[in-house]
Amino acid sequence: MFKILRKRELNSQVTLMVIDAPLIAKKALAGQFIIFRIDEKGERVPLTVADYDRDAGTVTIIFQKVGRSTMLLGELNEGDYILDVVGPLGVPTEIPEGAKKVAVIGGGVGCAIAYPQAKALYNAGVEVDVIAGFRNKDIVILEDEMRAVSKNLYVTTDDGSYGTKGFVTDKLKELIDAGNKYDCVIAIGPVPMMKFVCAVIKPYGIKTIVSLNPIMIDGTGMCGGCRVRVGGKIKYACVDGPDFDGHEVDFDELMHRNSAYREQEQHDREHICRITGGVRHA
Ligand SMILES: Cc1cc2nc3c(=O)[nH]c(=O)nc-3n(C[C@H](O)[C@H](O)[C@H](O)COP(=O)(O)OP(=O)(O)OC[C@H]3O[C@@H](n4cnc5c(N)ncnc54)[C@H](O)[C@@H]3O)c2cc1C
Ligand code: FES
Repeated sequence: MFKILRKRELNSQVTLMVIDAPLIAKKALAGQFIIFRIDEKGERVPLTVADYDRDAGTVTIIFQKVGRSTMLLGELNEGDYILDVVGPLGVPTEIPEGAKKVAVIGGGVGCAIAYPQAKALYNAGVEVDVIAGFRNKDIVILEDEMRAVSKNLYVTTDDGSYGTKGFVTDKLKELIDAGNKYDCVIAIGPVPMMKFVCAVIKPYGIKTIVSLNPIMIDGTGMCGGCRVRVGGKIKYACVDGPDFDGHEVDFDELMHRNSAYREQEQHDREHICRITGGVRHA
């Protein structure tokens, strides 16, 4: 059992929790994730280790309440317990060899996954520019945290209600065209966003890392659920990733596989909404 020590709502859909998990905190590195199960009948759900404190023995998770399990997790409070938290899983983020200047891009809740990567690069002495994109001002998260681990933070909103109006790809292109020489770009967010970032960067020949979010079950390479195609080869995101060379990823196949259970997920979401009353649709 894993105790929730702290809970903070970052916006109406996204929650931060600090969990007492000393063994995970001892080993966790940027880019890794945990899998939690809310109770004995709960599905196994992967969430990135957004932060950790080895001395305090805690890990931080940041999650968007999109469906059954994340909505149930969001109903728990400080002092409550999560049945299982397994980790750290996955390959830690590799700092690209010789990289002096890196652009880290987060889209929406993808910023929760991009933040630890930006922090690791920044702490390693790399010059980091962060571009954080959101649909509108109300859902901006982690602004102070990302500013603290970057040389420049650029916030974009689709509707222009905060920061620069437009998409992260517009800002990235503008920065590159203005003469910023990035050795690498790291892009984390919705699959279409990562796909478009890669398409925008391809002509510039800049190395691009993406963090993939296929459906995962065991998280240990056994079930095959998280199969992705990278450079024409089959990879398992839980043990070979979740970070991959974005220019090699088959994003269309990933989107197709991620939509496999849409009907069941919709049914579960509506069921939970009726039980809790207070939780809104994603
Ligand atoms: C390595 C990894 C790290 C992640 N880190 C974060 C994070 O830090 N914060 C965050 O908000 N989300 C993160 N996600 C996505 C998160 O796992 C899903 O939002 C969650 O599983 C949704 O479950 P649900 O029951 O609430 O919703 P559901 O209604 O079951 O699903 C909603 C959507 O979530 C995805 N999903 C569902 N089940 C799984 C599963 N078992 N594995 C992966 N994706 C699934 C699917 O795209 C689905 O359409 C991560 C995913 C992966 C693979
Ligand atoms: S989640 Fe089962 S192989 Fe990756």
